[in-house]
Amino acid sequence: MKALEATGIHTYYGESHVLQGVDLGVEEGAVTSLLGRNGVGKTTLIRTIVGFTRARSGTVMFGSTAIQRMASHRIARLGIGLVPQGRRIFRSLTVEEQLLLPASWRAKGEWDLDRVYQLFPRLKERRQHLGSQLSGGEQSMLAVGRALMTNPRLLVMDEPSEGLAPVIIQELERTFKSLIKTGLTILLVEQNFGLAMALADTVYVMSKGQIVYTGTAQDLSESHELRHQYLGI
Ligand SMILES: Nc1ncnc2c1ncn2[C@@H]1O[C@H](COP(=O)(O)OP(=O)(O)OP(=O)(O)O)[C@@H](O)[C@H]1O
Ligand SMILES: [Mg+2]
Repeated sequence: MKALEATGIHTYYGESHVLQGVDLGVEEGAVTSLLGRNGVGKTTLIRTIVGFTRARSGTVMFGSTAIQRMASHRIARLGIGLVPQGRRIFRSLTVEEQLLLPASWRAKGEWDLDRVYQLFPRLKERRQHLGSQLSGGEQSMLAVGRALMTNPRLLVMDEPSEGLAPVIIQELERTFKSLIKTGLTILLVEQNFGLAMALADTVYVMSKGQIVYTGTAQDLSESHELRHQYLGI
């Protein structure tokens, strides 16, 4: 069953036709990864899904609800949690304050401060530190923890490993694996091929605003031609 299904998405910035007929489905309880070089439209697709940018045409179904015309705060409340590219951490709030920000409206569910601290012991140690005092890896953990605090049915992460050292990415990978074991549905945009391959069940590759490959992570890692053509690796 599909948790999310985007069909025929066309999104523009002014006259610039960025997404040119994108179809993407996210299977319930699985990890779907979206790959592609810089500037191909990955974030634009995420922004279209979460309601920050309107598609000019196409539909986005979240379960049985059409969300392509819905305001972003309503989409968040329906159960799509976002880890935005660049993380968007508040520099002058503490870790704990930021985790508690969605408290007024978050859905009922298993995620609370204790569980987030269990998943990320580092955040517990740093609970009274300000956003500005965190390392890149800690900021990434905070962005994920903050999204989990809303008890999402779908967690969308846009390049959570961006700018992190390999050893920190390995740590994130272990954490994500334990998160996946809880059965959470995940849509992961990644430039780190190894991380995407380690986590994803299904992989989409985007090039110039279109999906050019859909398949298993294994098939993509074995296809040198596809990887070379669309990912430059
Ligand atoms: N707010 C905006 N206004 C106008 N053009 C934009 C805007 N945001 C992105 N673009 C352009 O749209 C295209 C797709 O950008 P997008 O951010 O979706 O790519 P991306 O695949 O996420 O890239 P990256 O891997 O660097 O994050 C790019 O050409 C970009 O310059
Ligand atoms: Mg992006």
